[in-house]
Amino acid sequence: MINAKTKLYGLIGKPVEHSLSPAIHNALFKKYNINAVYLAFEVNDLDSAVKGVRALGISGLNVTMPHKEQILEFLDGLSEEAKAIGSVNTIVNREGKLIGYNTDGIGALKALKRFTEVENKNILVLGAGGAGKAIAYTLSRLAKVVVLNRTERKAKELEKFGVKGEKLSKESLEHYLSWADIVINATSLGMNEDKSPIPKKLLRENLVVFDIVYFPLETKLLREAREVGCLTIDGLWMLIYQGAESFKLWTGVKPDVEFMRKVALEALKSERQSI
Ligand code: ATR
Repeated sequence: MINAKTKLYGLIGKPVEHSLSPAIHNALFKKYNINAVYLAFEVNDLDSAVKGVRALGISGLNVTMPHKEQILEFLDGLSEEAKAIGSVNTIVNREGKLIGYNTDGIGALKALKRFTEVENKNILVLGAGGAGKAIAYTLSRLAKVVVLNRTERKAKELEKFGVKGEKLSKESLEHYLSWADIVINATSLGMNEDKSPIPKKLLRENLVVFDIVYFPLETKLLREAREVGCLTIDGLWMLIYQGAESFKLWTGVKPDVEFMRKVALEALKSERQSI
């Protein structure tokens, strides 16, 4: 029941209308009897939006494209990860102080750990955008990581985390795929399209293939990896685990990820029907 004590959480970004986060977090608030609601806000003017958050005492936010980096200058404090990565996807309002976190890296790590060992493995990350950066940073602390990116400069910039960064090419892809135990697609390739960043002939059975794209749920990469016999992990797990980390930061409750997955799948199905 919404009343005078209801806390407000939300998502800021542009666009936000297809986000699954409101469905997931509102279902969690209900499940755990937390008097709170979560709404999606399409934000153009970030400065004014953050002033609004402060003025209204909004309890917490997720931040998505295109604001994940620009938001840093408006916050009062940052977690170690958010500072290192230079990107924030979660804000907690602690008695008026807005503290920024990044749960993308830990979300990817937990999704991976659900299915496979990560420690000391050889991990190939494709993409050095917001998500690729966070994933490379977090995984670099416990595994060997190589990042390949279409724009070489962005891959090289990640070498400050102790990973190897190179340009994504046919040759580099073939070379590092034969080295890797786990490959992660952190590019947007395959989103809403039947394209894969990896030619099927380069996939082999003992490779773990994780795609952070979740629309479609089974991307071309995951379909071909499944056909080859790889262990596959879809992007909805990444969304769920990063969301679970945000929820924990806001409420202190460690949410049931199976329940979150069920809610997210339902929301994804109705989303598919509406667009
Ligand atoms: P996100 O926050 O989801 O990571 P992003 O920061 O815009 O989004 O990053 C998108 C990533 O997908 C980048 O690594 C991008 O490569 P560039 O840095 O060269 O732009 C990558 N990407 C997008 N389209 C791609 C394509 N067609 N081929 C290869 N990489 C692509």
